Amino acid sequence: MEKSQTENYYVTTSIPYANGSPHLGHSLEFLMADVLARAARQSGKKVIFSTGTDEHGDKIAQKAAEHKVTPKVFVDDISTQFKELQKDMNISNDRFIRTTDKGHEQRAAIIWGKLSHDMYKGKYSGWYDVKEEEFVPEGQADPARKEPSHPQAYKRLEENNYFFKLSKYTNAIKDAIEKDEFRIIPQTRKNEILSLLNEGLNDISVSRPKDKLSWGVDVPGDNTQVMYVWFEALMNYLTVLGYPENADFKKFWPPDVQVVGKDIIRFHAAIWPAMLLSLGLPLPKTLFVHGFININGEAMSKSVGNGVHPKELISHYGVDGFRYFILRHIPSYNDGEFSWDLIDAAYNNELANQLGNAVQRTASMIMKYQKGLIGEMPVADHDIGPYQEALENCQFDRALDEVFQQIKGLNQYIDEEKPWTLASSNDSDHLREVLAYQASSLVQIADLLEPFLPDSATKIRYVFSDGVIRPLKNMLFPKKDLDNK
Ligand code: MSP
Repeated sequence: MEKSQTENYYVTTSIPYANGSPHLGHSLEFLMADVLARAARQSGKKVIFSTGTDEHGDKIAQKAAEHKVTPKVFVDDISTQFKELQKDMNISNDRFIRTTDKGHEQRAAIIWGKLSHDMYKGKYSGWYDVKEEEFVPEGQADPARKEPSHPQAYKRLEENNYFFKLSKYTNAIKDAIEKDEFRIIPQTRKNEILSLLNEGLNDISVSRPKDKLSWGVDVPGDNTQVMYVWFEALMNYLTVLGYPENADFKKFWPPDVQVVGKDIIRFHAAIWPAMLLSLGLPLPKTLFVHGFININGEAMSKSVGNGVHPKELISHYGVDGFRYFILRHIPSYNDGEFSWDLIDAAYNNELANQLGNAVQRTASMIMKYQKGLIGEMPVADHDIGPYQEALENCQFDRALDEVFQQIKGLNQYIDEEKPWTLASSNDSDHLREVLAYQASSLVQIADLLEPFLPDSATKIRYVFSDGVIRPLKNMLFPKKDLDNK
């Protein structure tokens, strides 16, 4: 099956667990996928960008019980928090799927039916990690966590489950990854998954007995079992498009890029492709695996509670100040560090002093020397190849490096051409040329910034795109003082 129209583009994030409030770590993934979606729209493609929340399983049932509310009441609240955060971050998702949506549950049952040719009943006897919602093979179990007194002790399970024949697909998946038909970036992650596949995959449990865990989607035709939360959650990428019958599914499958974190690569690069092969569906074109945001060297997480809330950062640095820091200064292919000092330096030195300043001085010189008239703008001639290549490879940090090289180049040009001396020496033709070149560079820079800093890009175009300067009411990136946060 081929996508009916190549101009259709489908990008997804993973769906975070609705077991606690969103934190800075989640925002990285939303932002990366948002850049891809916006860049695709900018190039004229029709886009479906989906995200959502993962709402079933042991972990959520436990959290709800701790809060003395039903699981549904609990996930309603968390899911709303994720939606609000996405709005605050200017995330342009077209869909938001909740795994408790009736549509998802019904379609998950259909998918289960289609996968049942690769399932059998068996007995699972072993460990279960509730924190990770994972069945843990004996060989990989941490001995300390086998002790019931451990704060994150595994559960001991002896139960009858349905098993999925994951082992059967090991070679086909390996082959698709090696040939880049199912491209995994960065290369380090690809190598990691290939070495896992070389060891071979075991069949996996894909259901839980309802009498032990009722917070899940019923296994069709067996009212004693619910689906294993990961197995059901992965299906969201299909159900959100209305699989199997909806036209969107036919037009948008397979995903162009799926964005996930390094901790869930095995689910997305082994179990998920096996499910798709079993359904007879094409694999995603690209799986992009990002690293973690650390704070004081520690991964941020709901359970550790060291999360700096993105809202706090947005209210201090503005939505684009926040987006900029995450996308340029958290390495796209590695882990990165957050601190207030780092974001403060990035905002002041790069956004205010470089970008804001280039906009400000260009606009004010055109106002001062030419009564706001820009005149004919030359076509900007920067080579955008490296920028495009970086985007194609999900190197968001590098793409922004490229844009900031241009901004730096523009500021150097202004310093060398010295429009203020041209103005005082009455060289008005050359002055007009120089200022028009500045304005045209800034419009091109705005186009490149569009997927990353959409509000700022709109403002820059507003100032320079009408032949005459339209001044902004407020400065683009006013300097900030960290002490006044
Ligand atoms: N519910 C599963 C995903 C199911 S997809 C079918 C899950 N949820 S999660 O809330 O634990 O994580 C959601 C995403 O956030 C994952 O991609 C994870 O890697 C990412 N992050 C969680 N903490 C993170 C950081 N500190 N830094 C960057 N991303 C991290 O896994």
